[in-house]
Order: sequence, then C-alpha cells, then structure tokens
Amino acid sequence: MTSSRAGYALARDVPLRPRNTFRVDARARWFATVHDAPSLSALLEERDVRGLPLLVLGQGSNVLFAEPWFEGLVVHLACDDLSVLQDAPGEPAAVRVEAAHDWDTLVDRTLQRGMRGLENLALIPGQVGAAPIQNIGAYGVEVGEFITAVLAFDRMTHAMVRLDAVDCGFGYRDSLFKREPERRIVVAVEFRLPRDEATRLEYAGLHEELVAMGGVAPTPRNVATAVRRIRRRKLPDPAEIGNAGSFFKNPVVPLDLAVALREQHPALPTYPAGDTRQRKLSAAWLIAEAGWRGFREGDAGISAQHALVLVNHGAATGAQLLGLARRVAESVKARFGVRLEPEPRIVGAAF
Ligand code: FAD
Ligand code: EPU
Repeated sequence: MTSSRAGYALARDVPLRPRNTFRVDARARWFATVHDAPSLSALLEERDVRGLPLLVLGQGSNVLFAEPWFEGLVVHLACDDLSVLQDAPGEPAAVRVEAAHDWDTLVDRTLQRGMRGLENLALIPGQVGAAPIQNIGAYGVEVGEFITAVLAFDRMTHAMVRLDAVDCGFGYRDSLFKREPERRIVVAVEFRLPRDEATRLEYAGLHEELVAMGGVAPTPRNVATAVRRIRRRKLPDPAEIGNAGSFFKNPVVPLDLAVALREQHPALPTYPAGDTRQRKLSAAWLIAEAGWRGFREGDAGISAQHALVLVNHGAATGAQLLGLARRVAESVKARFGVRLEPEPRIVGAAF
C-alpha cells in the first residue's frame, strides 16, 4: 500500500536490501520518502506510524540490519538543494545543503567553485544529512571543522531547531545526534568553507600519492583525486561486495596501555587522540594480528583487502554478520585487552 500526501509518500512493507550497502535482507514495516522537510511533523502524526520506532535512512552505508524486519517507520529524506548563503571575495563561503544531497557530489561542487576544505573527505559514501551524525572523517580531516550549524526536526519538541556546531558535540566518529539516535532528523547542514587555506597532507601516504600522480601541485582538486585513488585501492567497493566501510572505530585507550602494547608489539600503529593522556590504536592492525584478515564463514567475512571491513560475500544475514563481528571483538579483547566498538548503527540488536 502506498499513500501520498503533500510533501511525502508513505508505503508499507518495503524491502531494504537495495537500501543498505551491506546488502542484507530486511524490510521496513513503514517507509516514508520525504520531499519537503516542513511536512515531517504531519508525517510523524499519521495515525499508522505515530509513536513507532523511527529510523532515518540515507544511503544505508553505515547501518547493519540485524533483524529481518524493522517494525517501525523508516524516514528517507529526498530534498537536496544547495544554496550559497555568502560568497564575498576574500572571505570564506557559507553554504546550506539539504540532507539528501549526495556527499561526494557536494565535495566536487564546492571544489569546482573554489571552496576548500572538503577535499580530504572525497569519496565517502552517503548523504550530506548523515555527515554530522558520526562526524565523518578521513585523511586527517573531520567534517565538524567545516560545519557551522545543523538544522533538524526535534521529535521531543516537535519543532525545527538550529544547532550551532559547538552544540553538536562533535568527537571522533561521534556527535550529539549519534548519542540520541531517535531524537533529531537532520534536514540541512551549513558549512563555512575557506578559499585560501593550505591543503592538509599530514595523513601518511597522501603526499606520496601526489608524487605518484606525477608530482602535481597539492591543490584541493588534486588532493581530492589523490584521496580517491588511495581509497579505491584500499577499501572494498560496496558495488562489488557488501560492506559499510570500517566496522569498528579505532579504539582510544589510556596512554599507559598504549605504551605497554607498543612494547610488546612495536609494529602496532598508534595515533594522537586529541588528549595527551590517551592514544588511538589501529583497529585494523589488531584484527589482522589476531588472524582475521580474509576470514570467511559462509557469506560473512573480513575483507582480505582491509581488516577493519566486515563483508557480505552474497547471502549473509545481518545476524550472521553481527555474530562474526562479536567474535572478532572478543578475540581482540582476549589477545590485547582492548575493547572494540562498532562504528555503524546496528538496527534491531545491541552489540
Ligand atoms: P546511513 O547509513 O543511511 O545512516 C547512518 C546513520 O546516520 C544512521 O544511524 C542513520 O539513522 C543516521 N542518519 C542518516 N541520515 C540522517 C539524518 N538526515 N538525520 C538523522 N540521522 C540520520 N565514514 C567515515 O566517517 N569516513 C570514511 O572514510 C568512511 N568510509 C566509508 C567507506 C565505505 C566503502 C563505506 C560503505 C562507508 C564509509 N563510511 C565512512 C561510513 C559512511 O559513509 C558514513 O557514515 C556516511 O555518513 C553514511 O551516510 P548514509 O547516507 O549512507 O547514512
Ligand atoms: N592496517 C593493517 N591491516 C589492514 C589495514 C590497515 O594493519 O588490513 C594498518 C596499517 O598499518 C595502516 C593503518 O592500519 O597504515 C591505517 O589504515 P588506514 O589508513 O586504512 O586507516 P584506518 O585507521 O584503518 C581510518 C578510518 C577510515 C578512513 C581512514 C582514512 C576509522 C574507524 N576508520 O581507517 O574510515 O577512511 O582512516 O582516514 O577511523 C569508515 O569510517 O568507515 C572509514 C573507512
């Protein structure tokens, strides 16, 4: 059954397999495509869906459906306008982008207009509205640095709110939105993008990639190309094999544990964690060292290309993938005393 109202279309029993990059089978009891953000409040008051569990789904590149049914309402935003709010010469540009805009297309569009900042985040899958949820990051940059405000529908107050970046609680793969997952539906994001800042090449391998490209100048567009080349080499492509990128966060541990682990395992990569009393460890290295890289059981596996990526070789269920992820985390805990936390949203189960 599908019923259309101004601003949204509501359908029943909708398959989610084409809508998640793990390509696991799942169905939504209710699925709403929202073309007009102000109609969200009417949608959530519809008799059939009022009070049901809610899941906002963008491109499904960071979710794992652990159960075959989502007994609630999936909201999929479809508004993707981009407006330039300010663009005076010599000043950073300000742009507002609606949630459904594709992330990588935004990276390109801003670079084409001479706006800098998002180049290191090229080729991350997903919608713009999902970017603040886990404060997407790659190659030494996190999106929170460029966000000035997030516009969202707050289910608690039934009103649109505008949260300044300082109130979004951005951290490593973390934000206020991630900590209260059913509360806010992000409808637009505002960015401040410099026109004259130097590009950021600290991440290992980025400079080398520019050299491999013929020693090209580190312009923002060349950096985006370099990032795309590295990513295509390192990460399995969801169009070829189901995955959600890194399945675990890189664990942040007390400095003394990091030092002790490095004494036992000098090859373990560690990184600054923003607080000098802590250190971030490479989860990929821990998982590979525990012997999981390339492991496969049925259709659930760990990528042979990158140990942090859980993969669906074809017909794995969400429960099988989750089961394997738990075994990986248990073995890393037993071997190194380090607790791994999943990065994607797990729907229908706790980790
Ligand atoms: P979804 O997967 O649909 O949703 C993810 C979460 O955000 C869910 O909890 C969902 O409810 C919530 N959400 C989505 N949209 C909204 C909204 N409008 N309002 C409220 N909540 C919302 N991530 C990185 O940070 N860095 C990387 O380098 C990176 N590389 C990746 C590589 C691959 C191959 C893949 C498959 C994933 C990668 N990811 C990476 C993860 C993913 O791309 C990001 O998390 C992305 O932001 C998810 O966007 P999406 O539209 O697919 O969100
Ligand atoms: N490594 C291994 N084995 C592997 C893969 C990597 O030992 O199979 C070690 C290597 O020493 C390598 C190091 O891990 O140098 C780091 O690898 P990589 O550069 O791929 O980064 P990562 O820490 O594994 C993080 C993010 C990625 C992001 C990259 C680049 C997390 C959880 N993951 O991965 O984000 O693209 O850095 O910045 O922070 C995602 O979030 O989905 C994601 C892909």
